Amino acid sequence: MFTGLLHTHKLVVVLFLLIYIIKTVLLLIGKTENLEMFTKKVKVPEMIISFLFLVTGAVMLFQLPEIKTLLIIKIIGVFASIPLAVIGFKKKNKLLAVLSLILLFGAYGLAEVNKRRVAIAPVSADVVTDEADASYDPLVHGKAIFETNCVACHGPAGDLNAVGAKNLQTSELSDEEVSTVIRNGKNAMPPYGKVLNETEVDALVEYVKSMRK
Ligand code: HEC
Repeated sequence: MFTGLLHTHKLVVVLFLLIYIIKTVLLLIGKTENLEMFTKKVKVPEMIISFLFLVTGAVMLFQLPEIKTLLIIKIIGVFASIPLAVIGFKKKNKLLAVLSLILLFGAYGLAEVNKRRVAIAPVSADVVTDEADASYDPLVHGKAIFETNCVACHGPAGDLNAVGAKNLQTSELSDEEVSTVIRNGKNAMPPYGKVLNETEVDALVEYVKSMRK
């Protein structure tokens, strides 16, 4: 359900931005007649798109395990852009319309940056993380990383399934596929490839597989 919302949200955001770009360009090049015609034509679709944009966003927001500062800034940007756009287009004020579009794009950009900014919480110092150490156990290492970084969505037993996360107990992915999902992320799952080294990913693969029933 969350993944469906995410895809719908992305699609309506793109449509919403397209409508705003077209309107702003028409206003900027002084084609006010075309702008009025276009505005009339897209009135109903725009209402549906705006409604879906806000509803999908709000529903996802309530399901997120944590709300990051960038997300709050993004939401403020979106909400600030709405009155600016309404007034801008009504008064044919180019500056306000452009400002609104900048805010919208800024919010969109922040969302993208936010997605790529993946942080990893360090594991407890008691855990042996050196593969060369005789007492190294990938399951212990993997469990430690999992419990500090993955439980928000997957839960301690792997079956929480928050934000559209797949149940790790019933997962049938191969080692290679598990490793790829961890590195590259998928839908609401963040990509950990840049913040985890090979040993850590391998340890996680082992631990994730050990959760299977
Ligand atoms: C912000 C939420 C979130 C966090 C944090 C998260 N995941 Fe995920 N995970 C997901 C989602 C959502 C999916 C489902 C992706 C899809 O296929 O649509 C997923 C899928 C997976 C899968 C694939 C399961 C399958 O059978 O398809 C694995 C393995 C996995 N996650 C491991 C991890 C590990 C290990 C961590 C910690 C390093 C982690 N996840 C952190 C959300 C999260």
